[in-house]
Amino acid sequence: TTGRVALDIGFVNTAACTSAITYIDGDAGILRYRGYPIDQLAGKASFVEVSYLLIYGELPTADQLAEFDSRLRRHTLLHEDLKQFFRGFPRDAHPMPVLSSAVSALSTFYQDSLDPFDERQVEISTLRLLAKLPTIAAYAYKKSVGQPFLYPDNSLGLTENFLRMTFGFPAEPYEVDPDLAAALDMLFVLHADHEQNCSTSTVRLVGSSQANLFASISAGINALFGPLHGGANQSVLEMLESIQREGGDIPSFVKRVKNKEPGVKLMGFGHRVYKNYDPRAAIVKQTADTVLDKLGGDNELLDLARQLEEIALSDDYFVERKLYPNVDFYTGLIYRAMGFPTRMFTVLFALGRLPGWIAQWREMINDPATKIGRPRQVYTGATERSFVPLSER
Ligand code: SDX
Repeated sequence: TTGRVALDIGFVNTAACTSAITYIDGDAGILRYRGYPIDQLAGKASFVEVSYLLIYGELPTADQLAEFDSRLRRHTLLHEDLKQFFRGFPRDAHPMPVLSSAVSALSTFYQDSLDPFDERQVEISTLRLLAKLPTIAAYAYKKSVGQPFLYPDNSLGLTENFLRMTFGFPAEPYEVDPDLAAALDMLFVLHADHEQNCSTSTVRLVGSSQANLFASISAGINALFGPLHGGANQSVLEMLESIQREGGDIPSFVKRVKNKEPGVKLMGFGHRVYKNYDPRAAIVKQTADTVLDKLGGDNELLDLARQLEEIALSDDYFVERKLYPNVDFYTGLIYRAMGFPTRMFTVLFALGRLPGWIAQWREMINDPATKIGRPRQVYTGATERSFVPLSER
């Protein structure tokens, strides 16, 4: 049971790997980053602080945080040739494939820092990714709306800089709303890591071939794009809007879900690990009111979401299957209120999850015992048989 596959008597309980980064108790609804409960970090520690915690294992001192933050600010710029990269995509390209392609392309600009076993190179790649992904994400948005790219302003912190590059215009000054920045920073903290979810396991598996950090993160972004994973926050909004269009008839939507109509799921509900309320969803729900009141969000959709949750949580179908709201159920409403289009929601998830992906990749590289080994299979195909020449088939 050295973190490969733990075979328990009577059933296979696959532990993909060991890790010292994030702890989840799915039945109790507990989530801790490096031992710190998520509700003690969200709203109290900044996203840069939590990124430091996940990657280096300890909360930074004030000096360590200041130094880390200033190193990040020096790496927000993209190479001018990489900016040309965005011109090649169609205007209506979804920003997630743009993000994964641009991250993969970063490895071609930094060929001097790709060695996974050279600590200095891993460190500079870590800083470049953390600092440049917000710039890439902002440019993917600007590309989709046909607006000019803004250079990063390094007098701003990571989240503020991202908001300014996303919503600012060259022609006029853009003041970042501190409440908006604080709300987004907290949402990034809530998404920062989550044990061996689909995208993190992808990052580990790709990295286990000694592929460089950029290539591994690019693979993780693609895994996150799936609607059952990071793409769910976009699907939740689309689900709520379709219920709203049909007159807000929640009981008949719930009936369709329970009848398992193809393609009809209660998006933002259920979880592979949490069989209790996702602690992150509870925190997002608490802040949704404040943020929507402050930013003037769509309270009708929020009310619809609340009614949907209330009905689902009192319905045996969902209770028996231990289906509770997950992190994606309310986040989309807040992102919408912040001014992001639905297609940017999963990009925001990727921005939040990046430090977790990096921390897990570094742990796997530094400690082979935490590797996800080469998975095996139970073969169910044809037994051995002899070849039949084409003339006889
Ligand atoms: C994330 O792993 C992580 O940590 C992921 C994540 C992270 O931070 O990285 O937390 C982020 O991906 C959250 C999940 C976002 N996805 C969604 O909200 C999409 C909707 N959810 C489902 O697709 C589903 O709940 C999963 C995939 C998330 C989890 O599936 P499970 O736990 O493996 O459950 P299952 O597929 O085995 O289903 C068990 C039963 C089934 O019914 P029965 O066959 O027993 O009759 O529950 C039903 C399912 O049909 N079910 C749902 C449902 N989810 C499960 N029915 C309706 N709506 C749903 N959302």
